[in-house]
Amino acid sequence: YSHGVMVVADNQHDLDCLAELVPKGGAPVRLMLRFTPGIECHTHEYIRTGHLDSKFGFDPDQLQPVLTALAGCAWARVEGLHAHIGSQIFELDPHRDLAAVMADALKLARELGHPVRDLNVGGGLGIRYVESDDPPSIDAWVKVVAEAVTQACRERGLELPRLMCEPGRSLVASSGVTVYTVGARKVVPGIRTYVSVDGGMSDNPRPITYQSLYTACLADRPLAQADETITLAGKHCESGDVLLKDLSFPSCRSGEVLVVLATGAYNLSMSSNYNRIPRPAAVLVHQGEAELIQRREQPEDLLRYDLMPDRLRSVK
Ligand SMILES: Cc1ncc(COP(=O)(O)O)c(C=O)c1O
Repeated sequence: YSHGVMVVADNQHDLDCLAELVPKGGAPVRLMLRFTPGIECHTHEYIRTGHLDSKFGFDPDQLQPVLTALAGCAWARVEGLHAHIGSQIFELDPHRDLAAVMADALKLARELGHPVRDLNVGGGLGIRYVESDDPPSIDAWVKVVAEAVTQACRERGLELPRLMCEPGRSLVASSGVTVYTVGARKVVPGIRTYVSVDGGMSDNPRPITYQSLYTACLADRPLAQADETITLAGKHCESGDVLLKDLSFPSCRSGEVLVVLATGAYNLSMSSNYNRIPRPAAVLVHQGEAELIQRREQPEDLLRYDLMPDRLRSVK
């Protein structure tokens, strides 16, 4: 607050907390209101955020009463509106549709006297995880969003806002890979061949959470021909801990290094100690040079927050 940052408020509770924090007679807090735009898009339901039945943001029906209430508040100054329709989206239409919804909200906010300058359209642009994925380029996405916002504002006679976006995955996902060592192999005759690796859902929770697909290759033989179908199993105590299911892959031996591609977004950041498995190290590679940027967790790291209860301490 003292640095004049803009705060994104997602719901009435956020506003109530902020109202208490702002000192009486102090400068108003700069607010950006996040609302649900009511836009459906074809992505996994867990990463869809803009449809009406979403936990994120003010419901569109709440927008008018909330903006009306805030219009009379000395502690708040609404300078921005925010919406995010979801993630890993391949179509451009939902992004285009968002512009009209946001321009309507902008018009409403300005009519109620709010000095809204910023429109934040979130992120959501998908990336290619498997060959059949065909996402638009970042350029195409930006063009569609910018043109749609400009047109929607012109149609409503609105002065153009400052356009903001928050792409995540599309910027970083393809710059990361996850490196595993191949372990055991189990052939279930006539059903499936499991090949296990020394990681899984704790370093990549996306397949078990959203049934996400990936591409993999062998580090030393990246172009080797596929000659069998395997299911790449993680090492966690869940049958669902499968990184890639029914994958055409070259025969591989235990000890070989296997690489899962495009894990630069929502992998390390969503990694966990599921089953008390330590997280792997992270290495930055640039022009042939490698540098450790996060060290591998050790068993003692996992015990760092554990405390021995006093009553057990004294047991001999
Ligand atoms: C509010 C918000 N903005 C932006 C993003 C980034 O989305 P993406 O990585 O799909 O571009 C997310 C991701 O969850 C988000 O929740």
